[in-house]
Amino acid sequence: MTRLYLLLASALAVSACQTLPAGIAAAPATSPVLATADAVDPHSYARPLEARVTHVDLDLRFDFAAKAVSGTATLDLDRQPTAKEIVLDSDGYQVSAVIDAATGAPMGFAYGADDQALGRPLTVQLGAATRKIRIAYTARNAEALQWLTPEQTAGKREPFLFSQGQAILNRSWIPTQDSPGIRQTWSAKITVPAELTAVMSGLRSDEIGAGTGGTRTYKFHMDKPVAPYLIAIAIGDIKFQPLGTRTGVWAEPASLPAATRELEDTEKMVETAERLFGPYRWGRYDMIVLPPSFPFGGMENPTLTFLTPTFIAGDKSLVSLIAHELAHSWSGNLATNATWADFWLNEGTTTYATYRIVEEIYGKRIADQQIALGLDSLDGELNNQAAADTRLVIDLRGRSPDDGMTDIAYEKGAAFLRTIQAAVGRERFDPFLRKWFDDHAFQPVTSAQFLAAVRRDLVAGNAELEQKLQLNRWVYETGLPTNNVPANAQAFAEVDAAVAAHASGTLPTAAWARWTTDERLRFLNRLPRQQSRASLGALERAFGLNAIGNNEVKFAWASLAIANRYDPAVPAIEAFLQSNGRRKFVRPLLLALDKDESWGRPIARRVYPLARPLYHPLVTGELDKVFPR
Ligand code: BES
Ligand code: ZN
Repeated sequence: MTRLYLLLASALAVSACQTLPAGIAAAPATSPVLATADAVDPHSYARPLEARVTHVDLDLRFDFAAKAVSGTATLDLDRQPTAKEIVLDSDGYQVSAVIDAATGAPMGFAYGADDQALGRPLTVQLGAATRKIRIAYTARNAEALQWLTPEQTAGKREPFLFSQGQAILNRSWIPTQDSPGIRQTWSAKITVPAELTAVMSGLRSDEIGAGTGGTRTYKFHMDKPVAPYLIAIAIGDIKFQPLGTRTGVWAEPASLPAATRELEDTEKMVETAERLFGPYRWGRYDMIVLPPSFPFGGMENPTLTFLTPTFIAGDKSLVSLIAHELAHSWSGNLATNATWADFWLNEGTTTYATYRIVEEIYGKRIADQQIALGLDSLDGELNNQAAADTRLVIDLRGRSPDDGMTDIAYEKGAAFLRTIQAAVGRERFDPFLRKWFDDHAFQPVTSAQFLAAVRRDLVAGNAELEQKLQLNRWVYETGLPTNNVPANAQAFAEVDAAVAAHASGTLPTAAWARWTTDERLRFLNRLPRQQSRASLGALERAFGLNAIGNNEVKFAWASLAIANRYDPAVPAIEAFLQSNGRRKFVRPLLLALDKDESWGRPIARRVYPLARPLYHPLVTGELDKVFPR
């Protein structure tokens, strides 16, 4: 026990002040807020140019019985001398007092009108000299937090809690300015039941040790300014397994061995990413495998990526997810979209970077296949979305930032960067991208800044190249520009031939057995959506689709089955919907079922109440509107 703890402690003790190569500046203590109109965040009440938060210090107690967080947040402020107040974002937490942290003097505070999507502003009156305020508060039923009962974990013995901040959920448990353009350093003192372990998206300082009443207190800090959506916590019966010198994985003990095997390429991925994009500046890259209710595939919380367990396939076939979350250590976490309208700068750049990492580690063929799969989903999305939302920069005023979370941002964004890369060559594009991250490290960025950098560093006055790139078309216009680089037509030559042969009744039974997950996905997704019952039955029997373990393949099969009212797949679909809460899987399947009034709707309405306790508040929040309770 002691030995294990020491091992753990030394793995975690790696200093935050790692040495960076000459010429790479260390993180600034504060990061300026952009003042241009395109950097004004419509999803925050903050007025950062008048008064802004630069550091958040949390002292919180997590009460699992009450599902409540309470304590204090002490905020360092940077303010105009004339500012009379500071405006924070809030969504549901209850403030009991605000004081000037230097003098102890009570400060006036008031909430503004509540907005369904944004929550309400919390305005604190400032004294002439106020530079630090302390807010005492309690957050119950915070949307960012999911409290799991022991039954909802792998171990079944202890409860679990995790947070999800992106896009605007952290305002439900952290009183601060919740805008990606207002970067803040942070620190935290976290008190939890003694039998549980707390981890956060920053380095662990030390464990203070046993506290009063069966509790234990942990301390964390993030000394680099980050966007506040990147503050994250998980608490549970978790253990750590080192993977490399600066990488490791946390998971429930029951899940740790499989997670460790699946993640064995992580250290190599970090090294590869550094060669491509510059030094990794966050110290450690650890991951935590969460219970199956985690609503996303992954979330790039700095120093500690949060992961769904559904990526564990046993054969590493879904680990491009790790390359993706790791790549956010540059695109997203170093250079961060100033507002959610520029979400593609986070996700499109990351998707491009993911394919580059995959190519280095698994080879060009695999990367070309994944790019082809991405372009197929982009096609689907271009047909699904309203034309206005097929722009890279979209107008999200008066809407939820989640409306921008489509494959347009991910795959059109990545396609845009591939188009530039193809026009100028990797010899020029790679240094450009690296410089972009260096120049904007720990800063908010806008699309206009990105285009200006492309014009300055790559176009450099070359009118022919400017014409060829169609930069403004890509970013500000709808659809897919004509200069998009198509997928490598050879990437799936064998699978595509099998799809064609299937139309005349031939099943690729032998080929399926040796196909990779990506090839299986291409096959299922490229079949005509209308299939006869006999044809689906033949596929099911030949490939054992109702019993397939890979969750991406399961999803592809479930989608095809639902489109054809294929009853024999219903038990497998129901089990899938009740075994994970990943929004990307459960939302489209439940919505597709519900759309089919006479066949699918009764299934959806029967399963949803059963599956609902597993789902995260951000998923039930959407689905409760569709399925009356
Ligand atoms: N940052 C996103 C997840 C996210 C986006 C959460 C917007 C909330 C709002 C994360 O990096 C992501 O893109 N996850 C994908 C992974 C995939 C593209 C490999 C997911 O969860 O499916
Ligand atoms: Zn992402």
